[in-house]
Amino acid sequence: MRITRAGWAVMTVLSTLIALYAAKYASFDPDTYFSEQRATYLAHQLPLGIHIFGALVALAFGPWQFSARLRERSPRWHRRIGVAYLLGCLVGGIGALLMAPLAYGGVVARLGFACLGVAWLATGGTGLRMILHGRVEEHRRWMVRSFALTFAAVTLRLMLAVAMVARLDFRTSYTVIAWLCWVPNLLLAWWFTRVRPGRPDRSLVRVKVVPGGEDL
Ligand code: HEM
Repeated sequence: MRITRAGWAVMTVLSTLIALYAAKYASFDPDTYFSEQRATYLAHQLPLGIHIFGALVALAFGPWQFSARLRERSPRWHRRIGVAYLLGCLVGGIGALLMAPLAYGGVVARLGFACLGVAWLATGGTGLRMILHGRVEEHRRWMVRSFALTFAAVTLRLMLAVAMVARLDFRTSYTVIAWLCWVPNLLLAWWFTRVRPGRPDRSLVRVKVVPGGEDL
């Protein structure tokens, strides 16, 4: 599965913009926190900082992994950026699970973020396991699913902006969006990466992964 150049450009621009937006949190300035959660964030600066630092790395690096040109011209950089992306997911995911019980919107929103955090760690971990076993096609599928979840940071903020423009109740919208920001992304990614009957299943192709080699 290859995404179109335009699709990739939109995904990369949106991811970069949200990563830049999130970078303001690195100042730990309470004025940057949204008012409903300011006291909570002030009391939990460490898990919030861990989450945002890791998630930001994942969001900024993730789109580059889908550039066929980068993958083909410089497999070594694909691997290096991939390591940074997965470390970002790991650190960001641990931070997300620490923040989920404190999230705004009550138990339904908290459960939504916790499930997203678990799915995020699981898809990234499975993608890593697949490539370490040389199962390139399955690695590709799991990484598409992983980034679809990373991209929830973008869909969440776009949906919140729409809810604000539409003057919907903030707490209710936030609760619904805690699920809506990632479940459709994951379903779409699953559909895109499905094994199509009649097409050769390239997941059966295995390569030998040599550390530092040019094998991808
Ligand atoms: C994909 C898995 C993710 C999960 C499970 C997750 C979970 C959370 C949770 C539970 C909070 C606290 C929300 C609240 O207080 O109501 C939060 C806040 C935040 N997260 Fe994530 N997050 C994820 C990905 C990301 C990504 C990729 C970014 C991008 C940089 C990001 C940036 C932020 C920021 C900036 C905040 C502070 C609150 C805000 O301004 O929205 N998160 N996250």
